[in-house]
Amino acid sequence: MPQAPHSPIALIGTDLTQAVALLQQGKLVAIPTETVYGLAGNALNTEAVARIFAVKNRPTFDPLIVHTDSLDKVLGFVQDLPEPAQKLAEAFWPGPLTMLLPRQEIIPDLVTAGLDTVAVRIPRHPLTRSLLAMLDFPLAAPSANPFGYISPTTAEHVQSQLGKKIPYILNGGPCEVGIESTIIGFEGKKATVYRLGGIPVEDIERIIGRVEVMLHSTSNPKAPGTLKSHYAPRKPLFTQNLKQLQEEYAPEDIGLMAFQREVPSIPAPNQVVLSSRADFAEAAQRLFSALRHLDALPVKVIFAELLPEKGLGRAINDRIRRAAAK
Ligand code: TXA
Ligand code: MG
Repeated sequence: MPQAPHSPIALIGTDLTQAVALLQQGKLVAIPTETVYGLAGNALNTEAVARIFAVKNRPTFDPLIVHTDSLDKVLGFVQDLPEPAQKLAEAFWPGPLTMLLPRQEIIPDLVTAGLDTVAVRIPRHPLTRSLLAMLDFPLAAPSANPFGYISPTTAEHVQSQLGKKIPYILNGGPCEVGIESTIIGFEGKKATVYRLGGIPVEDIERIIGRVEVMLHSTSNPKAPGTLKSHYAPRKPLFTQNLKQLQEEYAPEDIGLMAFQREVPSIPAPNQVVLSSRADFAEAAQRLFSALRHLDALPVKVIFAELLPEKGLGRAINDRIRRAAAK
């Protein structure tokens, strides 16, 4: 299809100077992080933030994560760091952990959807750390996918879906963690995990003791707008009853995401194995690419095996279940 002159395809590259210039002008740049690619704009510029919601087609009641590269800078836009947050920052920043902290006025309402906390993360991808170090404002960045679809873990994923809507994609290669950050909030001495992610709950508990886990749902406004149907491929996805699916569909109509080994009754080209050595980190890293791959195959339905319910397996299963919810 010929490109309309007003919608050139986004350039992919590693030019930090260009990325800085665009962000300073209030434009958006897709950035690599160790979790997934983000769609970034100046968090202190309401117009840039509004553009993020528009490009993603995201409802404005779903707040954004603010990214920066140092604790000093974080202290410039949150009111304070409660003790457990300090410990977690020390243990996991830079890294795949997002903390909900009381915000200062400087953070626009649009970023937090009016909440009095702001979600903050110091990511550890080297290219994005260099970018953040060059900026005198933090970056608001949701995952760089259209709202509700599978999150992008390569620059090409971003290009194929948002390429016509943004001027630049910083290419940092495939994301190392592959699933989004863990989100945690604090009330007094109590810590609550609102989204399972790249830092397993067990690792957090090793640092600050027991935490509560309270996931999603639209009926829970306090919990992140982690809506139930999310991370979803276009094809219907199932996690239960492969046998029944095989009675309803021909083998070649079923795509299968296996954890460790292929299922013999499904054609091999229709299958993706997440980790033949049963490594959760490898499975997480490959999860979203696998779902995209299966979604693009000429199959009618996707079956996804769940992983053991521990460590990163929990976070992966959470993604798979949300992808299945209809
Ligand atoms: O790994 C990640 O976290 C990636 C990379 C780009 O950093 N970002 C990401 O952003 O996953 P997004 O927008 O797809 O998910 C952010 C989640 C949303 O579910 C949102 O509701 C929640 O964070 N959130 C943001 N601010 C919040 C707040 N103040 N209180 C509660 N939840 C919040
Ligand atoms: Mg997202």
